[in-house]
Amino acid sequence: MLNEAALLSQLWARRPGTSLPRDFYCSPKAHEADLRTIWTKEWIFAASAAEMPKAGSYVTLQIGAYPIVVVRGSDGAIRAFHNSCRHRGSRICSAAKGSAPRLVCPYHQWTYDLDGKLMWARDMGPEFDPSQHGLKPVHAGVAAGMVFICLADTAPDFAPLKAAADRYGAPHRLDELKVAHQSTIIERANWKLVLENNRECYHCAGSHPSLCRTFDDDPDLVGADDAQTSPRGAAHLARCEAAGLPSRYIIAPNEQWRLVRIPLAGDAISYTMDGKAAVAGGLPGMPLADAGTLLFFHYPNTWNHFLSDHVLHFRVLPIDANATEVTTTWLVHKDAQEGRDYDLKRLTEVWNDTNDEDRRVVEENQIGIASPAYEPGPYSAKQESGVLQFVDWYARTFEAAVRGPTALAHAAGANRAQRPAPAQVGLA
Ligand code: FES
Ligand SMILES: [Fe+2]
Repeated sequence: MLNEAALLSQLWARRPGTSLPRDFYCSPKAHEADLRTIWTKEWIFAASAAEMPKAGSYVTLQIGAYPIVVVRGSDGAIRAFHNSCRHRGSRICSAAKGSAPRLVCPYHQWTYDLDGKLMWARDMGPEFDPSQHGLKPVHAGVAAGMVFICLADTAPDFAPLKAAADRYGAPHRLDELKVAHQSTIIERANWKLVLENNRECYHCAGSHPSLCRTFDDDPDLVGADDAQTSPRGAAHLARCEAAGLPSRYIIAPNEQWRLVRIPLAGDAISYTMDGKAAVAGGLPGMPLADAGTLLFFHYPNTWNHFLSDHVLHFRVLPIDANATEVTTTWLVHKDAQEGRDYDLKRLTEVWNDTNDEDRRVVEENQIGIASPAYEPGPYSAKQESGVLQFVDWYARTFEAAVRGPTALAHAAGANRAQRPAPAQVGLA
């Protein structure tokens, strides 16, 4: 029987430095375990704050069995709630996003304020206490203009992530941005394959002709320390730091998130087909046009690029064991006008192409792994250290959730010994 203990045994038995056993990518039971151990325990990127520009703007998302609504209140604060009515449980907001002065359940019109309080419920009798029937809250926090939510009763400490991401993101003036475009695609592959693919550029030269015009696939551009960073990467860090841009490699103690700024290829300054800026004027306040890209990943579900002229968020949500939703959001300064300051096709074509190319490679990966002939294969230490780092984080986090926090030392020691350094390459 494939329960969490059996999955944990498979993790312990895996050969160091190799991809995961097949069950982790294909099994519905393993997927249920992922939802319990990862997706309902960790901070999950839900939306850009720019998607909720005014009071009443909301975004919905689904994490496993949980429908969630994230909404900006009249006080400007962003909150998250279980999107399930306290009357008989109907989902309240069904659209992916919208705007409403109150949250009104479509079934019997129970009406909630934007802070979750029940304001109105018809004919519930004198004994009924509305204060006991507010929407159930979900933890929410904003870091670098990105709204994260957490379904756990007690959320992990958000403060270190917020402090670092706010500091690194500040020069991009994230509270002055607006959504220029958003795309959502379905990739018929397990969410971990989507993350693994993002954490290496071993596949870039063979798959991404558009991206490779501007993205340098040198795995040594990002190193865990100066000794591992290429001279070009190190020079870029020094120049950006001197210009006042926080840029140096920083990683969480548990390796769940990382921030670092890298140069683009050649003299490119943005992800366009010619490498020139996608948005005239760039982001006001950025001291350098050629600041490259600030990379930010947070496991399990986001990687991001903060450029000098726009910002890109990627949100990964699992649908089932073999399907994953990937949403990409392009943000530009709120004063930039489409047609005058940017052309939407030019702004979006590189990553629209890249997303579709990545969809194809991960779908082929999934089909091949589904074969009974699949056996875990070795990662390249030079090219795929980022994948190994993600898989090790996954294994440690999975184990800690199954066995409790005391298991962490065992898992960390066992896995970390197998790789040279925490790191590095990848697109996030
Ligand atoms: S279920 Fe929401 S008002 Fe009845
Ligand atoms: Fe890719």
